[in-house]
Formats: sequence, structure tokens, C-alpha cells
Amino acid sequence: MEFKEELKKYNEIINNELEKYIRKDKCLENKLNRSVEYSLMAGGKRLRPTLMLATYKLFKDDFSECLPFSVAMEMIHNFSLIHDDLPGIDNDDIRHGKPTNHKKFNEATAILAGDSLLNYAYLTISKDIQKNYSYKKIECLFELSNAVDRMIIGEYVDTEYEGKQALVDELEYMHKNKTGALIRASVRIGAILAEANKDKIEELTFFAEKIGLAFQIKDDILSEIGNEKILGKPVGNDKKRGKCTYVSKYGLDQSKKELNKNIQEAIEIINKYGNKGEFLKNIAIYIKDREK
Ligand code: IPE
Ligand code: IPE
Ligand code: MG
Ligand code: MG
Repeated sequence: MEFKEELKKYNEIINNELEKYIRKDKCLENKLNRSVEYSLMAGGKRLRPTLMLATYKLFKDDFSECLPFSVAMEMIHNFSLIHDDLPGIDNDDIRHGKPTNHKKFNEATAILAGDSLLNYAYLTISKDIQKNYSYKKIECLFELSNAVDRMIIGEYVDTEYEGKQALVDELEYMHKNKTGALIRASVRIGAILAEANKDKIEELTFFAEKIGLAFQIKDDILSEIGNEKILGKPVGNDKKRGKCTYVSKYGLDQSKKELNKNIQEAIEIINKYGNKGEFLKNIAIYIKDREK
């Protein structure tokens, strides 16, 4: 199957699954629920759940036991985006080519929609564990909550460094946490649920760390030279806000070199999986070449 076609299939599976979690009842908190739905179904790439399912598929064919964790991961990712756009953090008005959540609704609703998504993720997982217990799910719960903790730390460091110059190590620390952590956990959870052995889990963790860092380097590059229409978010905002990014630290050319280096290293790891690893290898290339 063509890569784009396969990616679309994953997208459809994840979107269908997410739909099941949208609260439809016309209750007092209707606006909060619409606000959650607005962001969750806004047209994100679904990269993290796709990575989780595709990693699982390296080892086992039927990834249905992986679905609750994959939607939970996407809920948490969307929580992070809603809060990231808030006036007190990045103060962004546009995402996915539409008003950001607080612009569409209001700040209070956006904050609570983020909180709701974060909690809904854990509710989803606890229900799944209650229904069908296994110890590996507890391990995955640790992976997830640990990654969320790192993501929040990364976001904090990002805000602290606004208008300042970070050292090379500090910049890498920030990127690995704010963006790398959820990507790393997506791959690890896929591998743990599929009962991959320790060596394979560690090997795939290296792969995930490379593409996770590369993903944020590319995000920094797109914020500098992306096409706003395709990207769906404003170009030039990182610079305007004095954000510490790979582009502000190294310039465009060196950032592209760092991006390529990380993707190349990721490909070398996933190549060991031969045909089975083809889709994940193409995801790595997609992260490098994406325009949105
Ligand atoms: C954007 O992530 C935020 C970062 C971590 C850089 P994505 O680009 O994966 O967001 P969507 O879900 O596809 O919009
Ligand atoms: C977002 O980083 C990271 C998280 C939301 C955790 P950015 O602020 O660089 O991402 P965009 O460009 O707004 O999507
Ligand atoms: Mg940010
Ligand atoms: Mg932002």
C-alpha cells in the first residue's frame, strides 16, 4: 500500500475511535463539550496514535487492544495544544486554519476543555483496565503519565526561555520534553502492549527519540519558512515572541542539517525491521518533509 494511503487508513481508524468519546448530550456543559470536540476533531495529523498503532503492528497484527491508549494519547496531545495557544503561553489565534480554542469559545472554556481532555484520557484508560486488566497496561499508564509530566516541564521551560538565549543542552532538553516525550511514549506503549522484548523496546525508544526531536526541529523550521495556508498556523510567531528554537539558535541551514541527521539515525534503526518497518520508516521521512 502507498504510504499516503496507509497513513489515511490509520487516520480514519483513529478518527472513528475518537468520535465514540465525543459527548453528544445537550446538557448544561454543552459548550464545554463542543469546545472539546472543536479541538479534538479539528484536523490534526494523528501522528502520536499512528506511531503507537504502527509500532504495535511490528509485533502483532490486530492492534485493537491498543486503541484506548492511542485515543488517550491524542486527547492529551490536544489538551497540550489548547493550553499551548492560550494568552499566557504562546498567545496564538490560529491553529488548523481556524481560530484557536480560546478565540472560538473563551479563555475559561479553553482552559477547562484542556483539563477535561487530560482527565478524559485517564478515564478512558482506567475504564479499559477495569474491563480487561493486564499488568502491561499499568506499565503503559506509567509511560503515559511520565511523558505528560515531561511535556508539561518542557512547556514550562519554553515559556521561561521566551526572550532569552538557551544553551545548546537547554534547548535540546526543552524540545525533548515538550514534544519528544509524547512521541517517545507513543512508541514505547505500542511496543509494551505488543509484548516486545526489552531489547526491542529500547531500540525503538532510540528511534522515537530521534524522530521526536526531529519533529520539533521541523516545527521550528516551519514557523520560520512554512506556508501559512498549508500549515494552518501563523508563520513568524516564534520570532515575534522571541522563542528559543533551533532556528533562533543555529539558523535555518544548520537546523535543516540537525533535522536530517536525526531522521537518518532513526532510519538506520528502523531499517533493521526490513519490510515490517517500512511504514515507520516512511513516517520518519514524512516528519522531515512535511509541510504541516
Ligand atoms: C504540534 O503538533 C505541536 C508540537 C508538538 C510541535 P502536531 O503538528 O502533531 O499537531 P497536529 O495534531 O497535527 O495539529
Ligand atoms: C508545542 O510546541 C508543544 C506542545 C504543545 C506540548 P510549539 O508551541 O512550538 O508548537 P506549535 O507551533 O504552537 O504547534
Ligand atoms: Mg509553545
Ligand atoms: Mg505554540
